[in-house]
Amino acid sequence: MKTPKKAVSRRKFIEKSGLLSSVPVIAAGLPASSLANIQDANKFLRLGWIGVGGRGTSLLDRALRSVSVSTLKVNAICDIDPKARARGIRMCAAMKPAGIHDYKDLLARKDIDAVFVATPIYLHPEHAVAVLESGKHCYCEKPMAPTPEGVKKVYDAVKKTGRKFQIGFQWRYHSGFLGFVDQLQGGAVGKTSFVSSARHVGGYPEKEGSWYMDRKLSGDLIVEQAVHEMNVFCWALKAHPLRAAGFGGINALEGRPKGRSMMDSYGVTYEFPGNIRLNYTHVIYAASGFGGLYMTVFGDAGKALELEGTVNLSVTKSGKKTKVDLPPLKDSTELAIQSFARSIREDKEPLANVDAGRHATLMSLLGRTAIHEKRVAEWKEVAL
Ligand SMILES: NC(=O)c1ccc[n+]([C@@H]2O[C@H](COP(=O)([O-])OP(=O)(O)OC[C@H]3O[C@@H](n4cnc5c(N)ncnc54)[C@H](O)[C@@H]3O)[C@@H](O)[C@H]2O)c1
Repeated sequence: MKTPKKAVSRRKFIEKSGLLSSVPVIAAGLPASSLANIQDANKFLRLGWIGVGGRGTSLLDRALRSVSVSTLKVNAICDIDPKARARGIRMCAAMKPAGIHDYKDLLARKDIDAVFVATPIYLHPEHAVAVLESGKHCYCEKPMAPTPEGVKKVYDAVKKTGRKFQIGFQWRYHSGFLGFVDQLQGGAVGKTSFVSSARHVGGYPEKEGSWYMDRKLSGDLIVEQAVHEMNVFCWALKAHPLRAAGFGGINALEGRPKGRSMMDSYGVTYEFPGNIRLNYTHVIYAASGFGGLYMTVFGDAGKALELEGTVNLSVTKSGKKTKVDLPPLKDSTELAIQSFARSIREDKEPLANVDAGRHATLMSLLGRTAIHEKRVAEWKEVAL
């Protein structure tokens, strides 16, 4: 495995990849060209937000950038934090969204077709199920839930209500990962035998009192963060794993911050159908020079497919490594939102649908069970 020059923090890594902006464009209003479209409310996909913290703000920013092409209109913004709510409202002031404290009041409104849920993970089942049961479509941030029971609740609600549900896996719309999956499924390495993958980052935020440092609220590091990779693995291999074993915990960032229960490192191995094994390691205190994201697939003898970072894709055959050219990188979150809007307008299943959300979240939960309980965990234990 090659190592890039610098350790990359979670946020910097994602920013560099163009996957989200940590400094959202706070638009006080919209371009006049967009405003001109907001005449007939019936023509617009009318949106609401539950949670406009870090990620909710990014999603709102991307939706606003998509306004002129997708004719989206934000009608309500809900957050229990008045400051976050006010910031969200300022971002789309020209649309005059209602500011709402209690999400139930947002769901009672008749002028909303679809809702973005970007609240902390332990609230996803409650919020996503309520959105779907109110008859509205739902874009729910990843992962679906921090427990197998929560995943089942959301899954059942999607199937029962028939509303569109998209999970926040913007990598499904990202040219690097699309290229990786396309190459693998197109037979670039022959028969897949082994996948080796790692996310080694440094400078993971250590904010005291934050929900994500609490493994009960976030699901732990393998659920909160690595679910993005789990999504790519299930997607690329067209399967979910059968079992997992692994070890992990806190061995470098004890007490940073105070009350931390989220792991700082782990390694997990999964077995997939077809005798495929996958090894994934995750470290959030990587030293400078040892950071990065890697996915390597070993196939027939001498063949390998490698994604280094998110856009450096190569295929090796008979000792010769060939770079794979990818289409230009676009903002994958913006593409994900546009695709969600299209799936509603055209009554099509989203690409990052509830099955994608369920498989990836359960893959994370399977690995977590193995690590927390120091044993081999079976798929049927988490797939309720
Ligand atoms: N797809 C991605 O790349 C990506 C990136 C970062 C975060 N996320 C996900 O987005 C979600 C949110 O993460 P974040 O970093 O924005 O967290 P955050 O803590 O910054 O934001 C959460 C927001 O939800 C609000 N909130 C809490 N309870 C609420 C309630 N009952 N009703 C309304 N609002 C409520 C909070 O006040 C806060 O503003 C998580 O699921 C996280 O995993 C996804």
